[in-house]
Amino acid sequence: MKVKNQTADAAKPVVTPDTAPKELDLTNFLYEAIDASAFLDVRKWSQFFDLIPVDPYIKEGYRFKAIAWFRVKHNKASAIEGIDQRIAAVNELSGMSEEESKKYLSSSKPTWYSKETGYSVWNLPQYAMQQSIKYNPVHGDMRREYPRISDSIIDSEDFHTLLIHYATFFGWSDAMVLVQFQRVDCLTSRVGLPAVEGFHQDGNRHVGMLIVNRNNITAGSGVSQYVMDDNGKKTDELIFNKALSPGQLIYWNDKRVWHYGSELKVEDPGLNGGRGIRDIIIISAKTPPANMPIGPV
Ligand SMILES: [Fe+2]
Repeated sequence: MKVKNQTADAAKPVVTPDTAPKELDLTNFLYEAIDASAFLDVRKWSQFFDLIPVDPYIKEGYRFKAIAWFRVKHNKASAIEGIDQRIAAVNELSGMSEEESKKYLSSSKPTWYSKETGYSVWNLPQYAMQQSIKYNPVHGDMRREYPRISDSIIDSEDFHTLLIHYATFFGWSDAMVLVQFQRVDCLTSRVGLPAVEGFHQDGNRHVGMLIVNRNNITAGSGVSQYVMDDNGKKTDELIFNKALSPGQLIYWNDKRVWHYGSELKVEDPGLNGGRGIRDIIIISAKTPPANMPIGPV
């Protein structure tokens, strides 16, 4: 199959504070890998992954996850009403007072503002994740609660740069963004699975993944693989097949491709107590009506 992956610079959104951005045309966009080490230093975030508690929803104990939610809206674009409605509804289900809830709506003052691009960002409460069973046969329709990403990271300049990079790359007007810090580890006695459900889609329009660390895992571990979608079905031919290194960021079109990360195996049993790890950050923008996987706090 011939695969066209058009990400010509001419088609890239130009985001300025003065006008509402025009979104990237996703028709021909499949993926793009970017060297993010040119504009942020992931090594600073490495230590935080050691502090993330084990993910209680993976019984084998190889996954560690912390999350945070954001609203990223351009100042010149009108708010998507469905986002405010959804935030207000989940706040209410969480038992939040109306006054408190209003602080998280687009009518209130944002947590911070990007002067260069015109994007405003609101840090949202620690909502649970609630994915549709349509996209996640393993954990679909189950409410999952995770600890929050450390405030020292959330408030850092590099983290802001990452959020704005994602928003600017796709040029959206308004979206909710889920950020997941995720470690998967392996021991000599067991492998680690970066994608429990195998090749899959998550029902997003697009997703970003930034590699933070690979330590004591084989070269064939945690290989990022993508295949094309064919009318809702996975095809077989790999269109991307590479172990991305720390500092590399990849964006992909979650409607047009299926993604997978290969299992992790320990490289040297004599190192690091016989443990290997891979730390990544997954960022996904949500716009209603499709896939707004937030549950009450
Ligand atoms: Fe995924």
